[in-house]
Amino acid sequence: MTRVLSVTSECVPLVKTGGLADVAGALPGALAAHGVDMRTILPGYPKVLSAQPEAKPVHRFDDLFGGPAAVLRGTLGDTVLYILDAPHLYNRSGSIYLGPDGQDWPDNPFRFAALCMAAAVIATDGIDGWAPQVLHLHDWQAGLTPVYLQQRGATHVKTLATVHNIAFQGLAPAHLRGALALPEAGFTRDGYEYWGKISALKAGLVYATRLSTVSPTYAEELMTPEFGMGLEGLLRQRAADLTGILNGIDEAVWQPPYSDLTGKAEHKRALQQEFGLDPAEGPLCVVIARLTGQKGLDLLLEALPALLAQGGQMIVLGSGEPELEAAFRQAAKTQPGVAVYIGYDEALSRRMMAGADATLVPSRFEPCGLTQLYGLRFGTIPVVSLTGGLADTIINASAAGLAAGVATGLQFHPVTGLALANAFTRLGALYRQRDVWAQMVRNAMAHPVGWDSSARAYADLFAEMTGAE
Ligand code: ADP
Ligand code: GLC
Repeated sequence: MTRVLSVTSECVPLVKTGGLADVAGALPGALAAHGVDMRTILPGYPKVLSAQPEAKPVHRFDDLFGGPAAVLRGTLGDTVLYILDAPHLYNRSGSIYLGPDGQDWPDNPFRFAALCMAAAVIATDGIDGWAPQVLHLHDWQAGLTPVYLQQRGATHVKTLATVHNIAFQGLAPAHLRGALALPEAGFTRDGYEYWGKISALKAGLVYATRLSTVSPTYAEELMTPEFGMGLEGLLRQRAADLTGILNGIDEAVWQPPYSDLTGKAEHKRALQQEFGLDPAEGPLCVVIARLTGQKGLDLLLEALPALLAQGGQMIVLGSGEPELEAAFRQAAKTQPGVAVYIGYDEALSRRMMAGADATLVPSRFEPCGLTQLYGLRFGTIPVVSLTGGLADTIINASAAGLAAGVATGLQFHPVTGLALANAFTRLGALYRQRDVWAQMVRNAMAHPVGWDSSARAYADLFAEMTGAE
């Protein structure tokens, strides 16, 4: 068994803001079948502690960046969860990343440095009679871990830094490096310095043994100025160490309540009723997303007339940037075929996937994306931009894809309102050809979206990193 400690700031079912939580929550269980003993360390936010009342202390820190802390042993499904209980850093209400003013918590550099330090201590000293051979580091929040490991002389422990989203880099003012216990020598262009600041993400990308991201196409894209967000040069230098491994979804959780298109019809009627939409000629489309620039939802507003012209409808579930929330509310008010729910609601997201004909993912960049995978599983045809994981998981209804009978969705390019509008016109035409549409739904539902092959890829990578057979 390869022993791996996953270092993450969020994890389903305990705490989630996006897809990272799903991935961190699913991987340990999926890897168990592939000879990997993956345990997880997660900050002890109030809802994590209250969900794990049985968790017992297995390690104590007298002072971890400003206060006493403990590592508690809890459970994550059938695997072990270590909870970093540090009340001075995590015992507060509201979002795990943002304060009541909507800005990052001012002490975020310390909150996640503490997670990295705890992981490095566990890796060097062991915990509970267990010591990891590999640390799996998710995003910037885990980025400082290899720096602390080196400082502690634990060069035998390997690290895999996984980029889920390069837009968040964990920047901190340079003067904090003493307080963050970072080595002076590393504060250079070749180290963790980024334009005069500390970059936690860059630290991970410079010092980790290996790098990965969540799709092969995004791994390529990351090395370009368009997508690398300033880190493309570094990633190009480390190209030989960088791989893309697609995310899967938990098929037990995302199980459609029907087995074919006929079974879907009653869910569509129920969904239309729930949102006060009349039956319509065209496809019912859904959007389930964080309302941010990344997701390209402004393009959706631009292209909406083309969808409505096909007799289509749209329901949006999401929350995020106030301007987008307001724009969608306004669209719902003025357009009879549009409905919106601003908020976060997982049960509703499942009803929407079950009831809709299509799921829309017009992202400007998308490292992997999970909603198009739910769409495949539910036979809710994904309409996606041709980027990142969306390029890797959907087979476009091109002339070739249709002729071969293998299409599972629609891709559009470039990522503009005009191209999306054209995709809506194609969507309407396909939807009217009932046989073609039914074939696409069958293809989508049969497409493998579980963790199996990706779990194997991670297991192989960990084995390679530890020199195991
Ligand atoms: P990202 O991590 O960039 O937000 P992903 O597609 O990887 O994108 O993952 C998003 C996850 O969050 C999916 O599981 C999606 O269903 C869920 N999600 C996003 N917004 C909402 C919402 N408003 N209500 C319920 N689930 C949501
Ligand atoms: C990020 C990305 C998303 C990916 C998720 C999980 O939040 O935006 O594309 O699916 O991480 O890896």
